[in-house]
Order: sequence, then structure tokens, then C-alpha cells
Amino acid sequence: MRELTYYAAVSLDGYIAGPDGEFDAFLVEGDHMTAIAERFADTLPTAFAASLGVTQDRALFDTVLLGWNTYAVGLPALPSPYSHLRQLVFTHRAPDPVDGVEFTDRDPVAVVRELKERPGSGIWLCGGGALAASLVHEIDRLVIKANPVLLGRGIPLFGASDYSPARFARTSATAFASGVTLLEYRRVP
Ligand SMILES: NC(=O)c1ccc[n+]([C@@H]2O[C@H](COP(=O)([O-])OP(=O)(O)OC[C@H]3O[C@@H](n4cnc5c(N)ncnc54)[C@H](OP(=O)(O)O)[C@@H]3O)[C@@H](O)[C@H]2O)c1
Repeated sequence: MRELTYYAAVSLDGYIAGPDGEFDAFLVEGDHMTAIAERFADTLPTAFAASLGVTQDRALFDTVLLGWNTYAVGLPALPSPYSHLRQLVFTHRAPDPVDGVEFTDRDPVAVVRELKERPGSGIWLCGGGALAASLVHEIDRLVIKANPVLLGRGIPLFGASDYSPARFARTSATAFASGVTLLEYRRVP
């Protein structure tokens, strides 16, 4: 069955962005960048990957899930940021249609369960914290880019929710000279 992977950059105090969505504190230079870009090439915006000459073969992910706030970060410049993937954006509003982007107000859990039953490679939960909170019990793998910064305030990895505890086993930990640590976990059934 296909798996849902939440892949995100996180501060040491558990935030994926500052209070106004800023993420400039996260390290975008250093040895982690090349390694992560190669391994997680499918998560690069399509145009950015092309500019780097990086091939995106969809072997890791062929679908991305975004909450509206995460999607809106790229507007208006990038209305279809991951056009190499199937893009599903969760929102209750009715945006103008965008080629290659599916807007939906369906229950994310039901959508993910359907996606998991279909053939294909992985499903990438891009975020943000609000969408992740509603999908907590559907997440099979967590890939955390732990950045050596404290934000103090901001948008948490999982937004406000009363989800019950979930256990994950660490499958890999890669420490980079930059100070970023790539942590990978798999759900414990
Ligand atoms: N560090 C990282 O790797 C990383 C990754 C992803 C995002 N981010 C950051 O995270 C921030 C956004 O996170 P966030 O927690 O504020 O928001 P979010 O999860 O991206 O989006 C929340 C919005 O998504 C829609 N939504 C969520 N659950 C839904 C559901 N069950 N059904 C229908 N629509 C649903 C709603 O949109 P409507 O209000 O339109 O209904 C909701 O207001 C941004 O600043 C982004 O840059 C960081």
C-alpha cells in the first residue's frame, strides 16, 4: 500500500515557520542541501529542480498534499509549484481553477485512504501544521529536517488538535556539518 510521508523542516522548538509564516531562519546553504535535494528531488518545486538540472522521476512521491496556507505562500508567482506531481490543495474556499492543481474541501483522512488504495509511489504531506494535525493517524513516515534554531513562536509541526498519542520508531538519523539533522521515522503499528 502507498505510504503517507510528512516531510518538513522544523526548528528545535518544533515550529515549521515563524508566526507570520516566515522561514528565513532555516538553513538553505550547507552540505545538507545537496544531499537532501538529491534524495528528495521530488519535493523540489518543478521549476527550481529544472534550474538545477535535477531529475524528478516521481519514484519517491507522485502526489503532494497541501493546506491552503502552505499553497498560498507561493501565490501569485507559483500557482502550480509541483507540477511534476499530482497536487491536492485542501481548502473550504473556491479558488479560480489552476491547471494541474485540484482544490478540495473533502475530509483529508478519506482522501488519503482512497489514495493509499490506488497504485503509485509515495504521497507527500507537504503541510502545514493544520493539515498535518488532521492527518496525524494516516502518517506512515516522518522525515524531519531539524534545523539548529529556536523560533520561540510560530506554526507548529502539528497544529492545534486533540489527536491521541502515536508512536514512531527512528529508522535513520543523518547529521550534517551545517548543523541540520535529517531524522526519519516509521509509524509503530
Ligand atoms: N517548514 C516546512 O517544511 C513547511 C512545510 C509546509 C508549510 N510550512 C509553513 O506552514 C505555514 C502554513 O501552515 P498552517 O498550519 O498555517 O496551514 P496549512 O495546514 O497549510 O493550511 C490550513 C488551511 O488548509 C485548509 N484546510 C486544512 N484542513 C482542512 C480540511 N480538513 N478540509 C479542508 N480544508 C482544510 C484550510 O483552508 P481554508 O481556510 O482555505 O479553508 C486551512 O485554513 C506556512 O507558513 C508554510 O510556509 C512549512
